[in-house]
Amino acid sequence: MNVQIDNNLTKDALIDIYGGKIPSYHPDYFIDSRLKDGFGLLAEMDGKPAGFLIYTIWWGNCPFIEVLKVKEGFEGHGIGISLMRAAAREMKAKNFDTLISSSEAGDPEGKKYPDGMSFHLKHGFEKLNTLHLPHGEEQFFSIEVEKLL
Ligand SMILES: CC(C)(COP(=O)(O)OP(=O)(O)OC[C@H]1O[C@@H](n2cnc3c(N)ncnc32)[C@H](O)[C@@H]1OP(=O)(O)O)[C@@H](O)C(=O)NCCC(=O)NCCS
Repeated sequence: MNVQIDNNLTKDALIDIYGGKIPSYHPDYFIDSRLKDGFGLLAEMDGKPAGFLIYTIWWGNCPFIEVLKVKEGFEGHGIGISLMRAAAREMKAKNFDTLISSSEAGDPEGKKYPDGMSFHLKHGFEKLNTLHLPHGEEQFFSIEVEKLL
């Protein structure tokens, strides 16, 4: 299988990855703004959209992975970590040395895949604190960009 990552993330690719519709919790103005800034990465497997990553840079100095999503049925083939590595390469090029990410908190053993918590721990992210946000408890993580390269 051939996975390719580039900056050509489009709304059509997002619709495909979400299986027909971008969820309403990612409103148009959010997507438009990140695409305009060039803060989106698209993963394609054998030429077809298979996952994406959207980041932002808090305060202009702290990169944060906002959304990482692998299309249903494409999980477990390294697409998620390939997207994360591509984001790390962008951060290095922008002279940042640490990446922040997050996922829903909870016991990984008690959750079924897909599970962002075990993904981060498996790939060497260190736990920061959790925050109680409107949608629930969110676990934050950090990693040195170099560890992902
Ligand atoms: C979490 C997610 C990004 C992982 O992407 P992926 O391409 O399946 O992950 P990779 O193949 O790069 O890494 C595999 C590791 O991630 C974890 N993992 C998480 N979800 C998984 C899934 N559905 N299938 C396989 N592995 C998964 C496991 O630790 C796995 O390691 P293992 O095979 O030794 O058990 C993906 O499943 C997804 O989009 N989930 C829904 C959205 C989400 O939870 N995003 C993360 C919060 S930002």
